[in-house]
Amino acid sequence: MTSLHNPKIQREIRQIFLDFYAARGHQVLPSASLVPEDPTVLLTIAGMLPFKPIFLGQRQAEFPRATTSQKCIRTNDIENVGRTARHHTFFEMLGNFSFGDYFKEKAIAWAWELSTEVYQLPPERLVVSVFEEDDEAFAIWRDQIGIPPRRIIRMGAKDNFWESGPTGPCGPCSEIYYDFHPEQGDDHIDLEDDSRFIEFYNLVFMQYNQDAEGKLTPLKAKNIDTGMGLERMAQILQQVPNNYETDLIFPIIKTAAQLAGITYAEADEKTKVSLKVIGDHVRAVVHMIADEIHASNVGRGYILRRLIRRVVRHGRLIGIEGEFIAQVAETAIALAEPVYPHVRQRADQIKAELEREEYRFQKTLERGVKLLEKVIERAQQEKTNLISGHDAFVLYDTYGFPLELTQEIAEEQGLTVDAKGFAAEGPDQMDEL
Ligand code: SER
Repeated sequence: MTSLHNPKIQREIRQIFLDFYAARGHQVLPSASLVPEDPTVLLTIAGMLPFKPIFLGQRQAEFPRATTSQKCIRTNDIENVGRTARHHTFFEMLGNFSFGDYFKEKAIAWAWELSTEVYQLPPERLVVSVFEEDDEAFAIWRDQIGIPPRRIIRMGAKDNFWESGPTGPCGPCSEIYYDFHPEQGDDHIDLEDDSRFIEFYNLVFMQYNQDAEGKLTPLKAKNIDTGMGLERMAQILQQVPNNYETDLIFPIIKTAAQLAGITYAEADEKTKVSLKVIGDHVRAVVHMIADEIHASNVGRGYILRRLIRRVVRHGRLIGIEGEFIAQVAETAIALAEPVYPHVRQRADQIKAELEREEYRFQKTLERGVKLLEKVIERAQQEKTNLISGHDAFVLYDTYGFPLELTQEIAEEQGLTVDAKGFAAEGPDQMDEL
């Protein structure tokens, strides 16, 4: 097992993956930018995205097999970041891809070999899932790999049919989970129980195109798209309780804690959540600016702005005074540098952009929080748990205080915001949010 503070681990896990597939005929390709060529998404959300035109038969593959470690950002679950053991905005996805070349049998056999023989995860700690209708994948796991049927779980489309969006290439998938508590036995396996299981490797059998009506048409070629979560594998191998305490993120948390004059180990739960949010988001914003995204009020620029604002706010919550984001970013830049040298090359621009945004937002934050506290106090006195759309709108429109921040702070106090009322006050503004 690799220890928590082995500085080489992030490189090792990536390199081991890429080397394994390179030795099996895959072309190693560099990570594509976080800014996708695909106009249907704002950010690169999966390792397969740069290959979408190939899967759809719109572009000829240069190689029949490829492998990458792809930078990704997903913000659909942003409120879970820091609160669960494994939600991220920025993460890296290790993938092996077949463009009309090998299919299920090889993808499954290699994923198993890599997991158990190379990363040396004990087979008895692994459970797999298959799409409920995919008897073929079930049989491969049972007969060729030798997994006991009780540890092959059939799941519905919500979990085991992967699609990159409402339209586009898709297919049934099969996932490998690590079991933190094998002593609980095989009788009541619930893969949704994330105190027991973590899914770390998703094998997608990409064989359909889905149109806007939801109709599936078989693709000309059957493809493989896989994704292994680098942070998740690091959590498993480093034997830490969550992704944030891996070497990929923990040094950023340590820097933030230092600036706040506290230590992570002694911090209370609420402070730990803030430290984890900072650890996660600072990586995201550093990589976004390195990939030429600029803070703005629309599209991916607004995602960046929102992440920076959340960092600033959580910095305040843990007691950091004054400007701090560039110092924390330096740790994230140093972590990224060995694998992504362009991040160091753009370090000055990254820090300048962060400082600019931080400076602008600080004043808004201080004034807005004070006003919101009054609104919350009034609501509590009036024994209502609803903040009116009007109050939220005044905060937004007059004081520049973002709706989602009002919502987040209100939720922390057990209140909700009348978002419909907010929209009714100024429908045009909603587009920005
Ligand atoms: N595209 C799949 C995922 O994102 C596998 O890489 O999980």
